[in-house]
Amino acid sequence: MKSTLRMVFVALSLFLVVRFNVGREYEDELEELLAVDEEVERAAEGVGEKLSEAEVLSKAQRIVIELNNENTERVINGNEYVFVVGYAPWCPRSAELMPHFAEAATSLKALRSPLVMAKLDADRFPKPASFLSIKGFPTLLLFVNATSHPYSGGFTANDIVIWASKKTGTPVIRISSMAEAEEFLRKYQTFLIGRFDKFEGPAYEEFVSAAKFDNETQFVEVSQVELARVLYPDIKPTDCFLGIVKSEPERYTAYDGAFTMNKILEFVECNKFPLVTKLTEMNSIRVYSSPVKLQVLVFANIDDFKNLLDPLQNIARTFKSKIMFIYVDINDENLAKPFLTLFGLEESKNTVVAAFDNGMSSKYLLESKPAQSNIEEFCNNLVQGTLSPYFKSQPIPDNTEASVHVIVGKIFDEEILSSKKDVLLEVFTPWCINCEATSKQVEKLAKHYKGSSNLLFARIDASANEHPKLQVNDYPTLLLYKADDKANPIKLSTKSSLKELAGSINKYLKVKNQVIKDEL
Ligand SMILES: *[C@@H]1O[C@H](CO)[C@@H](O)[C@H](O)[C@H]1NC(C)=O
Ligand SMILES: *[C@@H]1O[C@H](CO)[C@@H](O)[C@H](O)[C@H]1NC(C)=O
Repeated sequence: MKSTLRMVFVALSLFLVVRFNVGREYEDELEELLAVDEEVERAAEGVGEKLSEAEVLSKAQRIVIELNNENTERVINGNEYVFVVGYAPWCPRSAELMPHFAEAATSLKALRSPLVMAKLDADRFPKPASFLSIKGFPTLLLFVNATSHPYSGGFTANDIVIWASKKTGTPVIRISSMAEAEEFLRKYQTFLIGRFDKFEGPAYEEFVSAAKFDNETQFVEVSQVELARVLYPDIKPTDCFLGIVKSEPERYTAYDGAFTMNKILEFVECNKFPLVTKLTEMNSIRVYSSPVKLQVLVFANIDDFKNLLDPLQNIARTFKSKIMFIYVDINDENLAKPFLTLFGLEESKNTVVAAFDNGMSSKYLLESKPAQSNIEEFCNNLVQGTLSPYFKSQPIPDNTEASVHVIVGKIFDEEILSSKKDVLLEVFTPWCINCEATSKQVEKLAKHYKGSSNLLFARIDASANEHPKLQVNDYPTLLLYKADDKANPIKLSTKSSLKELAGSINKYLKVKNQVIKDEL
């Protein structure tokens, strides 16, 4: 289950990249976006005349050095900070990233960042690529005095700017005037504000360490209370104050923990998401890796969700830092379906409320109406650990005439685990290639053993039915449950011939004087 959920999230994030359509046109646009003013490039490489900073800024809005066989070592070894993107022209993920990288380069230049931004066509220049240890595309690496550090930030231009600034000597933005405060508010919607009488002392140092260690939230510091109030209106005039600001109804959250790096980081991680986060292809990995392991997902169409938003935000306030609330547009096939499939609800058009405990790898389903009180109770039980995990099951079938019983999740206990019979269970999925052949063999075996009343033949569709005791990853799988040892089913080889299978059954079950109904 853990791996299934992880796969869903990873698939979502890859999907966005695969869907991206790089046409010829786009490649041209890319070239243009990344076009480098040669003089600027030469200046940054330390070749030729130095341009004044103003000239650099005006001459090139996009400042990304193109690395090649000749200049790579010089650029990496000659600069304190070099941020490299290794890409391949044919790679859609690179195409997706490059414009963001170029935009980030422009912003960083405007911020007078000491960072040199560079790109390497690793396909065309394999030697420097290998020198920089670029293996996949795109690869982002920060070189600090020629030592490489992997990238761990987000993928919008702003994410890249925040991360790069944090790692190159400006982990915190300092606000010292009204104009700066207003400018800051125009640029950032989510940030952690620290107000300190003086920018020194142990509490302040922990704050700065947290700013450096965090990978995606902008930290801002201010001393004057009046300035701080521009960013965080009802700031408490204590010696030092921390609070997170977001662009949503729950805009301000004050910190009341100890001033240690780890506690501050924990606060940021638990509070940086809005009360209800809308799942997108861009944020799915961040959502999955949140330290808040209990997640409630609401799948609804946009109109139904509008009506639910207020109640949901109220509930989310109650369970702040305990449960993460996520909205998924039920009509967005690519986002919603992989999750709904886990509940066998992929065709649902009505609102679905589900929960995951990523720590325990369990999933839950709200089976009553999605009204505020029901969701609230669901969340309460989730937090207290008293919800029953959900296991998929098809409706209970009528097996009276069946020679091979159809087992579903709901009757797995009764028919397999607690029955007094020996059971040969075939676990299949509708899409598995070899399952049909195995099903035919099981049918023949069922006929063959028809006179043996203590041996039941059964099959279960593992794509639509789950049971905590049924942990199978390959299909088909044949499991022989002996009546006196249901906890340890014996796996029979699905590659065996009918005779070999019958032989195994006879051996394990010690069947004697078998009544042969049909020739095998
Ligand atoms: C890089 O090296 C220079 C020269 O040795 C040194 O002054 C500087 O502090 C180093 N930078 C970092 C971030 O370690
Ligand atoms: C930032 O990224 C680095 C490298 O992946 C990781 O070790 C660190 O834990 C991250 N910081 C936080 C606060 O998650």
